[in-house]
Amino acid sequence: MQVLFATSEVAPLIKTGGLADVSAALTAALHGMGVDIRILLPGYPQVLKALPHLYVATKISMQPGFPAARLLTGSLPNGVPLLVIECAELYERGGGAYQDENGLDWPDNALRFGLLSKIAALLSCADTPLNWKPDIVHCNDWQTGLTPAYLHFSDGAAPCVMTVHNLAFQGIFPSHMVAELGLPAESYQPDGVEFYDNLSFMKAGLYYADHITTVSPSYAKEIQTDALGFGLQGLLTYRREDLTGILNGIDTTEWNPATDPDLVETYDIKNMRGKSANKRELQKRMGLHIDPDLPLFGLVGRFTHQKGVDLVLEIAPQLIALPAQLILLGNGEVEMQRAALALSHHYSGQISAYVGFDEPLSHLIEAGADIFLMPSRFEPCGLNQMYSQRYGTPPLVYATGGLIDTVLDYNADSLEQGLASGFVLHSMDTTSLLATARRAAMVYHDKKTWRALQRNCMVKDFGWDQSATAYHDIYTRLMR
Ligand code: ADP
Ligand code: GLC
Repeated sequence: MQVLFATSEVAPLIKTGGLADVSAALTAALHGMGVDIRILLPGYPQVLKALPHLYVATKISMQPGFPAARLLTGSLPNGVPLLVIECAELYERGGGAYQDENGLDWPDNALRFGLLSKIAALLSCADTPLNWKPDIVHCNDWQTGLTPAYLHFSDGAAPCVMTVHNLAFQGIFPSHMVAELGLPAESYQPDGVEFYDNLSFMKAGLYYADHITTVSPSYAKEIQTDALGFGLQGLLTYRREDLTGILNGIDTTEWNPATDPDLVETYDIKNMRGKSANKRELQKRMGLHIDPDLPLFGLVGRFTHQKGVDLVLEIAPQLIALPAQLILLGNGEVEMQRAALALSHHYSGQISAYVGFDEPLSHLIEAGADIFLMPSRFEPCGLNQMYSQRYGTPPLVYATGGLIDTVLDYNADSLEQGLASGFVLHSMDTTSLLATARRAAMVYHDKKTWRALQRNCMVKDFGWDQSATAYHDIYTRLMR
C-alpha cells in the first residue's frame, strides 16, 4: 500500500501544535505496519536546516500563478520517507510556518498552501512526475484542503482522506484566488469550495474528499452541531456516513517518564521518587518556592480562547490561595501573554509563566507538575492530557471532544473500578473551574488515593496501534 501524507508541519522539524506530533507518530506507526508512506511537507528554513542531505527528486513546472518548485527527498530521524517542496519564494523566510515574527498571518498563505495542496494532487494523479504514485492521499487540515478539489478535476486520481485536526482554522481567502490557484470556475459554488462568498480550503477538503476523519469520536459528533461546526455543520452532517472519529495516539517513546532525557530523574509506576525530583527542579527553574507538599498546577499550550487560558488567568489568584502553585508555558494572544507575565511578577514564588515555545520545558512540566490544567472550550483531541496521564500527572479538563474520550472523572466508584484518571469540569466558568481545582487539590492531599489515581493514569495505553489500524482499514476500503 502506497500512501502520500500531506501536512504543513511534522515533529521534530517544524511544530506549532499537535498536528506536528500526529504527523510524525501516525506515519511512523503506519510505516511500522509495512505501509509505504511518504510525508509531503513545505521546505521551510527549519526543515532545510535540519535535513542538509536532501536529494533532488524532480523539478516541478506548474501552471502560471505558482512559482517554480523542486521536490527533494529524504527522511525523518525515525526513518519515515519525506518529500520536501523546495520553493524559496514561498517558504524560505524568517518567522513561522503560518505567521511572521509579529504573529501576523503571511499575506500569501493562499499561494503557499495552495502550492502544497496542488503538488499533493499532482503526485497522486496520472500526471505525476515521480515513478511512485500513491494508492491513497491523506490530507490534514485546511493547509492541504485544496488537494481533494484538484484531484476531483484530474485524471487517474488516487482516493483521498481528509483529516480535520481543528475546524476553527479554515483557510478562507477572497474569491479571486479560485482562478489564481487554478481551480475550475465550476468549483466555486455552495456545492464546492465557496463559503459565504469566499474560497474555503477546509470546505474544499470536506466537500471533495472520499472520506473524512477527525481526531476523536466525540469531536466527530460535535462538528455536526451548530455549536462546534463553525458553519460547516450542514456539510458534515450531510457527509456523516463518510465521517469517522479516530482518537489520536501519542508517541510513547518520545513521551516516556522512564527514559525522557528532559527530566532530571526518570521514573515509572513502580518507583515514583523521580517525579518528586522533577517537581523540585521545576520549582527551582521557574522560581517558585521549593515545596514538595503544595499541589502544583501546570499548563502547556497555545494561549487562545480555545484552550480556556483566559479562565485560568482569571482564577489564578484564588487558585494559589487554595493553597497551590501554578506554572504556565505557552504563547499566543498578546493579551494573555501579558496577563500571564504580570501574574508571575505579582505573585512571584507562587505563579510562574514562561512565554515562548520550549519543548524540553514542556516535558519537565508534564513530569514535575501534580495536576495538568487543560480546560479547553473545545478540543478536537488534545495530546497534552494524554502525555500528562502517562507521566502520572492527572489532568483537569473540560468535558469536550477528545478530552472526554481520554479522561474519566474521579469519584470513589470510578477510582475503585480503576477508571478514574483526572478531573472533569462540566461548565466553563470561573466558579466551576475553581471548584474543580479545589476538588483536585483535596484529593492530592490524600496520598493513598492520589497514588491510586496516578496508577490508573500511568497504566493506560495511549499508543498508536489501534488508531493506525483504523486508518489502515479506511485506506483499504477506499482502494477497493
Ligand atoms: P493543539 O494542537 O491544539 O495546540 P495539542 O494538545 O494537540 O493541542 O498539541 C499541542 C502540542 O504542542 C503538544 O505537544 C504540546 O506540548 C505542544 N506545545 C504547545 N505549546 C507549547 C509551548 N509553548 N512549548 C512547548 N510545547 C508546546
Ligand atoms: C489540533 C487540535 C488538537 C489535536 C491536534 C492533533 O491542533 O486542536 O486537539 O490534538 O490538532 O490532531
